[in-house]
Formats: sequence, C-alpha cells, structure tokens
Amino acid sequence: MKNKIVLTGGCGFIGSHTCVELQNAGYDVVIFDNLSNSEASVIDGIEKITGIRPAFYQIDCTDKGAVYQAFQQEGPIAGVVHFAASKAVGESVHKPILYYRNNLTSLMNMLEAAQDFHLKGFVFSSSCTVYGEPDSVPVDETAPIKPATSPYGNTKQIAEEIIQDYEHTGVDFNAIILRYFNPIGAHPSAEIGELPRGVPQNLLPYVCQAAMGIRKELSVFGDDYNTADGSCVRDYIDVIDLAKAHVCALNRMVEGKSAEKVEYYNLGTGHGVSVFELVNTFMEATGVKVPYKVVGRREGDIERIYGNPSHANEVLGWKAAVPLKETLANAWRWQEKLREKGVM
Ligand code: UD1
Repeated sequence: MKNKIVLTGGCGFIGSHTCVELQNAGYDVVIFDNLSNSEASVIDGIEKITGIRPAFYQIDCTDKGAVYQAFQQEGPIAGVVHFAASKAVGESVHKPILYYRNNLTSLMNMLEAAQDFHLKGFVFSSSCTVYGEPDSVPVDETAPIKPATSPYGNTKQIAEEIIQDYEHTGVDFNAIILRYFNPIGAHPSAEIGELPRGVPQNLLPYVCQAAMGIRKELSVFGDDYNTADGSCVRDYIDVIDLAKAHVCALNRMVEGKSAEKVEYYNLGTGHGVSVFELVNTFMEATGVKVPYKVVGRREGDIERIYGNPSHANEVLGWKAAVPLKETLANAWRWQEKLREKGVM
C-alpha cells in the first residue's frame, strides 16, 4: 500500500510542484488548501502531468476541527508537508495579527494532528529569511539566526522554535525543516506554475510580466550595492528541484533514518546570481527583451545571500540540478500559457 502524505497549501506554487514529485515517487497525496491564494484548477494541472488526481479538502488549517475530521476520513497518514501560510512580506507589516494567527495556529494544529494521528514525519517550509543579512556567504545551517525584519519572517522563526520545543517533549514523529532560498520556475509541461495575484513582488514573476508587456518595465531595486555589478545577489532555486527535496526529506523520516528529532537543511544551489544576471540570462533563454530601469533600493533588502547546500547534498542525497536558463525558459513558457488562457 502506498504511503499517504498530507500536503497543506498543496494548490500553491511550491505545494503543487511538490504534489507532482511526491506522486511520481509513489506517494498517495491528500491536499488541504483554503484556496485563499490559489485556485482549485491547479489540481487539474497536477492530474494532467501525473495522471493521478490527488484527494482535495478545501479546509483552513487554522480550523482544528476540520483538520481532524479530514485526518479521520483519510485513515493512516505517514507524513505531512506543511506549506499553508500567508507569505507576502509587505502585507505582513500591515496585518501582523493575521500573519501570526494564520501561520502559527495552522502550524500548531498540524503538529498536534501529526502526534495524535501517529504520523512518522513532518516537513516544514521555512526560509533563508531566518539568516537575515548573513555575516558571510555561502550560508550554512549553523549560521546565526538574525532578528526578523518583518512579521512574515518572524512567523518562520517562531515556527521553527515551536517545532523544536514540541519535538523536545518526546513526540513520536520526526521533523525536517527546509530553509528555501529563492524558489522560481514552473513545471516544464506548463501545466502548473506561479500565480501571483495583483502586482508581483518577487523578481521573476515581475520579469515575466514586464517581458510580456503586462508591466511597463521592471524596476531594478538598486545598482549601488557592494556586489560585482551593484545589484543584489540571491540563490535562485528551481521549483522542481525544491519539490524533489521534500520527497527526500519524507523518505528519510518514513524509512526511520532521521539522526535527530529535528533536522535543518538549506535548499539552494550554492551560487549567487545578481538581479542583472538573472535578467540577462532570462533574455538569453527566451530571446525576449525585458524593459527595465534602475531605481532606488527597496527597504529591507539584503545585499547578498546564497546558501551552502552541502548538508542536503550529503545527508538527503539531494542536489539542485536544473540549469538557470532552463528554469527561466520554463517560467516563460508558463507565462505564455497564462496569456493563452487569458488569465493574464
Ligand atoms: C523575498 C522575501 C523572503 C521570501 C522570498 C521568497 C523580502 C524582504 N523577503 O526575498 O522573505 O522568502 O522573497 O522568494 O521581501 N527585485 C527587483 N525588482 C523587483 C523585485 C525584486 O530588483 O521588482 C530584486 C530585489 O531587490 C532582490 C531580488 O530582486 O534583490 C529578489 O527579490 P525577491 O524576489 O522579492 O526575493 P527576496 O527579496 O530575496
């Protein structure tokens, strides 16, 4: 019998790609999603790619009753991958209570469910945002955690602490915390991808929309940083690569191979890419021009961050593999698909 995994936020950008990779790896996937920042049609895309339609519950993970009812209905579950969370940094500054309530209540409900329903493993999606402006790059998992610069970032830090504290009580399941660097891209089939609502805040969705003429031009936030070309440096990780890391993490826990109750892994490529490099590589990969202008720095931006993924390479047996050009071409194909469908 296949192991069953609950994917909260499974209709979202990273969640949907992870669903595909889990199904490809032989897991049976059950999605919990309140559709607050996603569409149910994503499930059609997943089915087109894998030939399997995941079970779907439109529930909010802050509703413990609904979560427990769904667990009861589904029978034995091996693990949870908990993505469901609000993720807009700017919005979190204006609506901190919403962010703390959504992101932390849902986490606590899922942790208690993991214990009460005898799961083996719990994967939590954290972020390199916990490292703040790092003292040195590449950052490894032992780098100090810096004070968060937004309520969103703080929810990730607090969530990590909650998981750690709960595991210390001697619960039966293991946890793996994955710290993502900058996830980008789309499935090569163009059946699933990122669906930004309103004006995109992240770089690549904006680049795609500027290339398509939906936005007049990309604003490059600062060219006077202390980097090779003056623009900020990030570690852009392909979403399929990222999704595969979740499969490795679950395999480790389901097979009882965890060395610690809570393990932490950086998920990045190990390479820093500047804003200008990303834009130029996008133009090379797609042959499409990206209109841009340089503007002032964005408040709160970090000059340079990229991760050291050796721990994930060595212990999880995971490595980022998709070349940046291919990732950017996939994102563009998805953007073209959205235009064909008249979505944007
Ligand atoms: C942001 C979040 C981070 C989150 C990550 C997810 C902040 C402070 N941090 O990180 O918590 O985990 O997204 O991917 O928002 N840029 C432009 N023009 C644009 C948009 C971005 O030049 O229109 C630049 C930014 O200045 C930055 C780089 O592109 O240097 C990447 O920006 P973005 O995609 O927003 O990601 P992060 O800021 O790294």
